[in-house]
Amino acid sequence: MVNAPTRYAEALLTGMLGTFGLDIEYVRAEKNSLYYLDDTGAEVPVLDLIGGWGSLMLGHNHPEIVAYAKELLDAGWPVHSQHSAHPVADQVGAVLNGVLGREFPGAEPYAITFANSGAEAVEAAVKHCEFDRVLRMKALFEEIEWNVDVALRAVAEGTAALPVDVSLLPGDVPAPTDAEEFGALLGAVAAHNMARAGTGPVFFALERAFHGKLVGSLQFTFNPLFRAAFASLGQPVRFVPPNDAEAFESAVAEQRVSVLDVQVLDGRVTLVERDFPVVAGLIVEPIQGEGGIHELTAEYAARIREICAEVECPVVVDEIQSGMGRTGKFFASSHIGLLADYFVLGKSLGGGIGKTSALLVRQSRYRPEFELVHSSTFAKDGFSTAIALRTLELLEAHDGAAYERAAERGERILGMLRELAAAFPDVVADVRGKGLLIGLEFADQSQASSPVIREKALAGLLVFQLGSYLQAAHQIRTGPTASVPNMLRIEPSIYISDEQIEQLGGGLTEVCTILRNQDALPLVQVLTGAAEDAPRADIRDFRPAAAEESAPAEPAAAKVGFVGYPLTPDMLREFDPSLADLDDERLFAYARRSELLKDLPAFAPVRFDSPQGTSVDLTVYPLLVTQAQLREYQVSGQTFLIGLDLDRRVRAAKADGCDTVGLGFGLGAVSGHGGALRVPGITVTTGGALAVGSALAAVRPAAAERFGGLDGTTVAVVGGGGHLGSALGAISALEAAKIVLVGSGRSGSAERLRAAERRIYQEAWERIAAGGALTGIPAALSVEPLIVRWLAEGRGGDEPSGAQIAAYLDDAYDINPFVVVTDDLLSVRNAQVVFSAHSSPVSVLDEKHLGDGAVIADLSFFGTGSEASSVASRGDLRYVRGGILSASNRGILPRGLGASQGAGELLAGVAEAVTLGLSGKSGSMGNGLITRERVHAIVDLAKQHGFETIST
Ligand code: F0G
Repeated sequence: MVNAPTRYAEALLTGMLGTFGLDIEYVRAEKNSLYYLDDTGAEVPVLDLIGGWGSLMLGHNHPEIVAYAKELLDAGWPVHSQHSAHPVADQVGAVLNGVLGREFPGAEPYAITFANSGAEAVEAAVKHCEFDRVLRMKALFEEIEWNVDVALRAVAEGTAALPVDVSLLPGDVPAPTDAEEFGALLGAVAAHNMARAGTGPVFFALERAFHGKLVGSLQFTFNPLFRAAFASLGQPVRFVPPNDAEAFESAVAEQRVSVLDVQVLDGRVTLVERDFPVVAGLIVEPIQGEGGIHELTAEYAARIREICAEVECPVVVDEIQSGMGRTGKFFASSHIGLLADYFVLGKSLGGGIGKTSALLVRQSRYRPEFELVHSSTFAKDGFSTAIALRTLELLEAHDGAAYERAAERGERILGMLRELAAAFPDVVADVRGKGLLIGLEFADQSQASSPVIREKALAGLLVFQLGSYLQAAHQIRTGPTASVPNMLRIEPSIYISDEQIEQLGGGLTEVCTILRNQDALPLVQVLTGAAEDAPRADIRDFRPAAAEESAPAEPAAAKVGFVGYPLTPDMLREFDPSLADLDDERLFAYARRSELLKDLPAFAPVRFDSPQGTSVDLTVYPLLVTQAQLREYQVSGQTFLIGLDLDRRVRAAKADGCDTVGLGFGLGAVSGHGGALRVPGITVTTGGALAVGSALAAVRPAAAERFGGLDGTTVAVVGGGGHLGSALGAISALEAAKIVLVGSGRSGSAERLRAAERRIYQEAWERIAAGGALTGIPAALSVEPLIVRWLAEGRGGDEPSGAQIAAYLDDAYDINPFVVVTDDLLSVRNAQVVFSAHSSPVSVLDEKHLGDGAVIADLSFFGTGSEASSVASRGDLRYVRGGILSASNRGILPRGLGASQGAGELLAGVAEAVTLGLSGKSGSMGNGLITRERVHAIVDLAKQHGFETIST
């Protein structure tokens, strides 16, 4: 495969689409099909139900529109002739006015303003609303000014009496008794009016609305996901619930502000309240599209017209998605008799080729001066307007056959979906829509028993997962609605065929069966890069028996978290049993592909009870990465990337009330053993001390049996420079005759091994200085002249001495008799006892590296780095597992953590976190260097709380 070019255009988004196999490069489009090329170069059609987010009423590349576009270009048709006459634009206006007259009999003419996109046309509408309000405000003040003049003159001429009731003016102003006081009163009225002149504008929109994402239009889009970050950039919009006329009415009433007019009535100057235009506009979609396919009712439509009329507020109807005939009528609003002051059109107006949109404003509300203050270079261009005109002609042809077809096709699809909903009432929550604007809402899956399904639902990505399956298994493209995470949006063109509707029905039936049966395998299978040969073709029933998976009734007093990832394919299978038939390679392919979505939600807590009477709830915060990926982060120096994920997980644990969180195998290595995480107030442990303790405990009986103990043996530590390895080396050195520290040879490894070597000397010296009986390396070192001299000088055990001893030994010996530092695995051959404590995702030892009768303690036995198979062929070897404990106090272990271990066995990382929780010792133990004292302390503590080291 050739390398994909670096992504510059929406790399993140395309990457996320890729995790669902949706980053497909389409090369051709026609009617309802998009085509991509398969590996053999053959075209594969995909049924496109996204339809350019609803801009393809006439399908992709309608032949007549394409032919017309070519004709225009061939003829040298002027695309840009700004500042000239545009008869084609007028013709578009004429056709639209004809449609308006038909669908809203008696409607007055509408002026048309072109724009380039839906959001731009919405913003033009918003601007026009405000322009209109400003002009209404100006007219009102001019009228009041005129009336004041008239009143002044009438008082001067004696034809009108002074006002007697001035109570409308706040602040106990006395009624005027002479011309001077009347002048002062008029001044107070003017000040009062000026103070109110700054009120507004107030715009109204509906909850769940979608009107675009530009700075202005975004304020009218309800979903806070899109709007929140930019709220301070624009005029706040008041959102009211759809189809609740009372709510709108009282919201409008709240906004009402009046100013004072001064009129001569019946020969007396009188103060009169006038409504000040505060409310600038109400914008609605007759059928909410992006917000989840919700229709407005005819009653609501009638009421909002009345309420708006009362305050002269224009009603803006956004038909960008619902219009152009998609719902069976050109204007969806005509189904409910909602005649707008402004209509906004977009999407299909461009016929799938042009990019254009339009604002229509009722003549009696149109402000021609708007044309002098609003413009857009590309708007009303020659090409797009001509294409729009041809599109309208096609739609209007044959007495609107296209609209009839939209209604008929829509009914057919809706009929199929309603049957589906009847067959799967447990899975389908709702089917909504009109014509070819359709939504299929699935039931909430956030409590699903399949973790794959549940986690996607919790992440709000269920429809992406289902869409990915429809795409890969059924060649169907469906759209999500960002505002309704469980909904598939279906917006085909009028050319969708019966066969294609059947194809959709077939695909959706399978999707429903998958959800009903909680069988995630088909969903995962298509993302493993081998869609063709699935391990099984049937969808099986994985619904749990009723009693399974019940969470602890009362939460325990203490909570601990554990961040883990599936170390083995078995763990993934245990995580979601429906995946059992997928082979290792595919499971890992899935995990790898899901990389960007590794942020899975937490599992249900599992209770641990201590023999000491305490209890703790353990919650697993899973991380969907593979061991190989972790390794890649490490090798490429990108550990901060996984660090960010870990950090989020640890913060989540803290927010859930955990005081301790354990990190799974290998996560210590990419997080500075938790030290790189900056989450205050929570103890992070990698379980290293207990892993070391359990590995030593596992080795002792075998070593005793074979060599009479560790005394006098050579101990090799593979990964000897690591966090665990250096501790194993230093602790073993107190008994063994010789330590072989083996590193990977990669950069930094030699330094780490040297540091581990110095640690051995330092701790040996501490031992010697402390006095008492000595064994192992301290015993042998104690007779070296340097040490004898130090003892004579009374040097303290805590003085830094490791480096000096190392330098001394370098001088004194050609070959260091105590510690060997190497990257040559063959040196392991000389050891009787071998600890394998590396962090490689693959095993590193094989039989040629191991001496006769050696004992091997494997600290990565549960990962893909396990040495078990390498030593299997050698009957003389003794293999024991390190880093594992038996949990006598708990039979059921958290899902996805128990696999590859025996029943009742737990990884040290989990056991240490639980022990800290049960003992209430969080914070006092945990991170830092793994010392012998810490190892003993945690092993003891674990034992008190029911965890035993094991030696098999
Ligand atoms: N109004 C409505 C009702 C829309 O559905 C959209 C876009 C817009 C305005 C903005 O149009 O994208 O051309 O600026 N809806 C798309 C959707 C994005 O997901 O339904 P635009």
